[in-house]
Amino acid sequence: MFTNTFTQLYRLLAACLLAVALAACSQDAEMPDSSGDVEAEAGSEAADEAVADEAAAEPEPYVFDRPFVAPSPPLTDLVGRGEYLVEGIAGCGNCHSGRDETGELVEGLEYAGNFVIEEPIFTAYAPNITPDPETGIGNWTDEQIERAIREGIREDGTLMGPPMAFAYYQDISSTDMAAIIAYLRSVPAVNREVPESIINMELPPAWVEPVTEPVPDIPPSDRLAYGRYLTHTIGHCTQCHTPLAEESIGDFSRIGSGMNLYPAPFGFEWSALAANITQHETLGIGAWTDDEIKRAIVYGISRDGRELLPFMGYSYYEKVSDEDLDLIVEYVKTFPPSVAEAPVAEEH
Ligand code: HEC
Ligand code: HEC
Repeated sequence: MFTNTFTQLYRLLAACLLAVALAACSQDAEMPDSSGDVEAEAGSEAADEAVADEAAAEPEPYVFDRPFVAPSPPLTDLVGRGEYLVEGIAGCGNCHSGRDETGELVEGLEYAGNFVIEEPIFTAYAPNITPDPETGIGNWTDEQIERAIREGIREDGTLMGPPMAFAYYQDISSTDMAAIIAYLRSVPAVNREVPESIINMELPPAWVEPVTEPVPDIPPSDRLAYGRYLTHTIGHCTQCHTPLAEESIGDFSRIGSGMNLYPAPFGFEWSALAANITQHETLGIGAWTDDEIKRAIVYGISRDGRELLPFMGYSYYEKVSDEDLDLIVEYVKTFPPSVAEAPVAEEH
């Protein structure tokens, strides 16, 4: 039923990403996105290049090391479980917390909004989701908050625009949803007005089918299913890391192959190009060790030692427990090798 609208919508999105990519590429050769600049820098000094090539072929063995991170509180501790998810793998604050002009998170503005992402077809402001009754969601019922997260429907019944991951969040278990809402109600209220998002595109009639039945919990003992739940449903890693398809949210036949370009997220000056995290030996992470994958997720450092752009919510993922991080890595390693076309031209 939504297929046609989705087709239109994602054609539009894809076209828009491509247009922005080309513009960014011709105007801004400095853009520190993934591959291009690294090569350019390495190429600037011949001596370094040989060294860099060797290093890229086989980096020093790396041992992932951090203080032990305890497992999630039990599902019965709603606020504790909610905090574990929201401050960790869900990383809601990556979009919903206040940032300064340089894109850095500002203390005291947690969940108080102002993330902005500007695209030709929309300008999205992440709203204030603190319990402030005037400018936040303090007066919303649990059902209203749940519908906003799962289905992208606002308090007044209208449909939100992109880029929140409704199609992923619709499968959050009912217990975890209650936990997330309980935690949001527990954070300090901040009175802060955020502009409304501007949407210059035709929205589909709905993002997802209405969720009318309770959504069951997935037992962590089912390692692969629970790993998928953490990575895909709550972490929406696969939203950024899967190319957009014409007829659906993402082309999951190429899950993890990345290559979505995010122009100037959070007001940063650069654009971020989502990496290929499939098992492809050279273009993906097929040759990476588990420890190297963990370092990228938690510390934002690539296999070759390069610091990754801060668009991904590393500081949140740092709070993911040792157990859950293992499951995420196990699940990510199931993405079969595949490639997506980079929207960035090859010249530089
Ligand atoms: C990719 C950025 C992003 C992430 C991640 C994100 N959101 Fe959002 N969220 C938005 C944007 C943008 C809107 C507003 C969309 C609109 O109004 O068109 C929104 C709207 C909302 C709303 C409705 C608030 C209102 O006043 O309309 C709630 C509630 C919400 N988000 C909660 C969450 C929770 C909980 C999480 C984590 C599980 C989360 N969001 C993750 C970007 C994000
Ligand atoms: C908001 C979008 C977004 C989300 C969500 C996201 N990523 Fe990323 N990720 C990126 C971008 C963009 C890069 C590339 C950054 C760069 O090149 O500097 C990246 C890089 C990576 C890398 C390093 C790859 C390389 O070749 O260096 C890994 C591994 C990775 N992500 C895994 C994950 C996992 C696992 C999750 C979920 C826990 C996740 N990502 C969530 C956008 C995202």
